Amino acid sequence: MENLKAVSIKKLSATFDGNGKHLQVLNNVNFSIKNGSFTSIIGPSGCGKSTLFRLISGLPTKDSCKIDGKIRIYGKKPLTACSDKDIGLILQTPTLLEWRNVAQNMKLPLEIMGYSSDNSNKKVKNLLKLLELEEFEKYRPSELSGGMQQKVSIGRALAYNPELLLMDEPFCALDEINRRRMNNEIINIWKKTKKTILFITHSIEETVYLSQKVIILTNKPSTIHKIINIDLPYPRSEEQDSSKYFKYIKEVRGCLDEASH
Ligand SMILES: Nc1ncnc2c1ncn2[C@@H]1O[C@H](COP(=O)(O)OP(=O)(O)OP(=O)(O)O)[C@@H](O)[C@H]1O
Ligand SMILES: [Mg+2]
Repeated sequence: MENLKAVSIKKLSATFDGNGKHLQVLNNVNFSIKNGSFTSIIGPSGCGKSTLFRLISGLPTKDSCKIDGKIRIYGKKPLTACSDKDIGLILQTPTLLEWRNVAQNMKLPLEIMGYSSDNSNKKVKNLLKLLELEEFEKYRPSELSGGMQQKVSIGRALAYNPELLLMDEPFCALDEINRRRMNNEIINIWKKTKKTILFITHSIEETVYLSQKVIILTNKPSTIHKIINIDLPYPRSEEQDSSKYFKYIKEVRGCLDEASH
């Protein structure tokens, strides 16, 4: 795994065609992601970020989506990577099951995969510890804050130990304070688990706070406008790294402005 690229995308184009519509969403997208790295994707609303994730994660897109180019996840086609459980997907809304408590929600994928009860209980215990959710083990989703619900869905995605985590605007529903808290938590999880993270966000601030590399997409038909490497140590802080930090914020903002026209 170490020597393989976690994600490799070559000349990827995607067009929705059917029902009287013809919409090219992605156009000649090329990038690769190093194993163990943290990369953000930012781009104008509706430019095709979620579509790109669906394609990477092997989720079925509508039959009407025509795809050109090559996507590889650790050298495998998306569907193979998906069935090998290489990919964990975390979406904007946590989609937890209300009739299951925190631990039972995290256990769900393991039950589906036929893990023994002992084995899955042990894994869930470790995840609860990693996510500092031990005391909420028996809580129902509706008894948790939005940030905690999102942590449970991260735990559920981590349960089968995928190498690559795809996060599609996971914290966009949170207020600034909780978003920053979750940003710190995700950095901790990334450091502890050494997973590869690909993270979609609308927040310029979040890209600079979190990632080693920021991929900026243009308007539809979307292609890569620029890739910026964020060369700042972790943990990051506006106070400590102020001049460099704000230089990156300015750079990402400028590129996003150009990319949106
Ligand atoms: N199944 C589909 N059929 C037809 N068009 C679709 C389909 N899914 C997405 N689209 C179109 O593709 C474009 C990109 O959608 P997508 O959800 O990938 O954008 P996005 O960058 O994630 O947007 P946002 O920033 O708002 O989350 C949109 O114009 C959308 O209408
Ligand atoms: Mg989206």
